[in-house]
Amino acid sequence: MRLPKFSALSGLWIRCAALLAGVLSLSGCEWYRMDGPQSTITTEGPVAARQTDLFYLTCWVTLVIFIFVGSTLAYAIWKFRARSEADAHAEPPEQGHGNPMVEIGLIGASVLSLVIIAFPTIRDISYTYDVPEAQKAFAYNVTATGYQWWFKFDYPSETIPGAGILTTGNELVIPAGRPVHIDLRSADVMHSFWIPKLAGKVDMIPNRANFLWLQADHPGYYWGQCAEFCGDSHALMRFRVIALGAADFNAWLAHQKEPAHVAEAAAKPAAQFASLRSFGTNEIGFPANDLLERDPFAAWKQKQLPDAAPADPALIAQGRALFASKTCIACHTIRGVDGAVGVRGPDLTHVGARTTIAAGLLENNPEELQRWIHNPGAVKPGNKMWVEGFLANNIQLTPADETALVAFLSSLK
Ligand code: CUA
Repeated sequence: MRLPKFSALSGLWIRCAALLAGVLSLSGCEWYRMDGPQSTITTEGPVAARQTDLFYLTCWVTLVIFIFVGSTLAYAIWKFRARSEADAHAEPPEQGHGNPMVEIGLIGASVLSLVIIAFPTIRDISYTYDVPEAQKAFAYNVTATGYQWWFKFDYPSETIPGAGILTTGNELVIPAGRPVHIDLRSADVMHSFWIPKLAGKVDMIPNRANFLWLQADHPGYYWGQCAEFCGDSHALMRFRVIALGAADFNAWLAHQKEPAHVAEAAAKPAAQFASLRSFGTNEIGFPANDLLERDPFAAWKQKQLPDAAPADPALIAQGRALFASKTCIACHTIRGVDGAVGVRGPDLTHVGARTTIAAGLLENNPEELQRWIHNPGAVKPGNKMWVEGFLANNIQLTPADETALVAFLSSLK
């Protein structure tokens, strides 16, 4: 077999490089920036890192195959092209049966590339399946349940006397630097649980116990998303994961276990936030600024603290009364509020301390909260708080009612 001349191959390489550069510049976007909030390339934990490494390995192996096959094909096309009119009409040359050495070599190369991909794949399927044996005793356990279209998070090892286990919605707070085993359940249809920077997708299947594990290497704020089509608002079914250092995580847990503050006269006393001192001070106040966009983790910490300018206590009390009289209590639990024991919608005991509402869709500020309760169907089509053009249970709210409810819900920290 004759080797191609150097000039022929280098010319091909230059053309390939020019084509690649052209495609990348034509794409117009900042193709080299791959660190968006739902990036699977910029990973923040060992499970996602293994999955990304496998992706890269497969890419490199297939790139080598592509370059080898592509350049051989290009060379053959160029080398054996018709050079004259007579060439084009000539009889084809005598056909051979092939070259045994080339064929054996190609089979060997195919097997080798499969082996290069298969061994790390099998190793990492086993690693990403569940928390490694040596770390099992150190793992933290959470149960995530998918609903159309939001996520419920239960903390089975965090029990509250008289109220069962700690439950939150749409924002999952976990300890950083520690494996977290997450049991996955569904209350209705199939969903898929996905936090791109921490771990790949695993389905939440009705009547089937599924699970995954992940670990956030550092404290931070991570985006999650339902990744299985589950109805009208599948694309609007998001959540957030907040990873905290051990001390902050325990402080958060202690605070979450407390019931909602329901004193008539004043906002929750500052002393009750003493355990969250390490979170800094709350500068968000009212109205919200764009801190959530610039630094979501800092915004989340500030959300845990009392508002700089809390709403009028009388307005909050009015909102609380409306929450009962308008039957919101039938679908939502607020620990500490009489009768608010519903489980159809998210637990709202500390909803004022979340950075997002409507399953990670809207920023949790008074304007967005009002927009949400005014017409949830316009924000998230098909959701159960909106039935045929009206709030569920045919709830009628005046603008003043909405303002009072927003003040009450925002005060729940
Ligand atoms: Cu839940 Cu898609």
